[in-house]
Amino acid sequence: MTVSSAPGKLYLFGEHAVVYGEPAVGCAIDRRARVTVERRDDDRLQVEARDLTLDGFTVEYSGGANDQLDVNVPTPLVEAAMGYVDGAVEQAREAAGAPDAGLDLIVESEIPLGAGLSSSAAVIVATIDAAARELGVDLPAEEIADRAYRVEHGVQDGQASRTDTFCSTVGGAVRVEGDDCERIDDIPDLPLVVGYDGGAGDTGELVAGVRALREEYDFAADTVGAIGDVVRRGERALAEDDVEEIGRLMDFNHGLLSAIGVSSRSLDAMVWAAREADALGAKLTGAGGGGCIVALDETPGAQTALRYTPGCEDAFRAGLDRDGVRAEG
Ligand code: MEV
Repeated sequence: MTVSSAPGKLYLFGEHAVVYGEPAVGCAIDRRARVTVERRDDDRLQVEARDLTLDGFTVEYSGGANDQLDVNVPTPLVEAAMGYVDGAVEQAREAAGAPDAGLDLIVESEIPLGAGLSSSAAVIVATIDAAARELGVDLPAEEIADRAYRVEHGVQDGQASRTDTFCSTVGGAVRVEGDDCERIDDIPDLPLVVGYDGGAGDTGELVAGVRALREEYDFAADTVGAIGDVVRRGERALAEDDVEEIGRLMDFNHGLLSAIGVSSRSLDAMVWAAREADALGAKLTGAGGGGCIVALDETPGAQTALRYTPGCEDAFRAGLDRDGVRAEG
């Protein structure tokens, strides 16, 4: 039996714009997905998903990446998560040269599904690492990140950046621009607070919406470019440990994301609740449409205010996780 875990992440700056070649900065947080893998005697896969902020359920199926799951999966989100697991197992089997290896998997996660905290990347990365090790191969981090990106890219119809999968693999803070991914080593410890509205956005639809706006309006394309400018200033503020400037730029980034249509009433309500409680800045994180915001606040104020904000289901402090994927057994 082999167990691996990988962290979720949030975007400090640059989601959506990163899809068009602008830079983005993300950081891994101390909430993880954990995958347990055990070799079977046959060629079947059995996946048991637990604690995916949904009722536990078991899926059993056989075969490879494109097989239909002829089971009752409770929601489209969980069905999507199973697609990621299936793709990740295919990558591990390919890496190990064992295309027909049967496996039992247990997937557990502390990261809400589809809510902007890279739950899918964490599940993919942990699955590839655990399944490959169970099949006798220790993959280097670059290969795990690359294979995980291929899975996300495939499932999301080519509309994924490398940020989530790279960050979940290497941990810490990362900078991504196109295919260039690097770790930012001198990141300050930021006082991050996450607000979660209990919902999720449809990443594919949201990315397609931004694409359509960019094609229709020059000023929408300029807005995406302006997000890139905010990211570059944000990188400077991070290097100078200028937390107040980081907060101001997060506010700016949220305004630009709103302008391209990816915020929502509940995300805006949480952003404003955090700001009114004197957070240094607040923005949505991830694809938007629902899910999570991230605020910067050294005091308990924003977290308390979020807890009393209608539409906010949970508010918690998020620590930077400097570990990426790791063996748990
Ligand atoms: C989704 O987590 C963030 C997007 O920028 C897409 C991506 O980077 O893959 C919308």
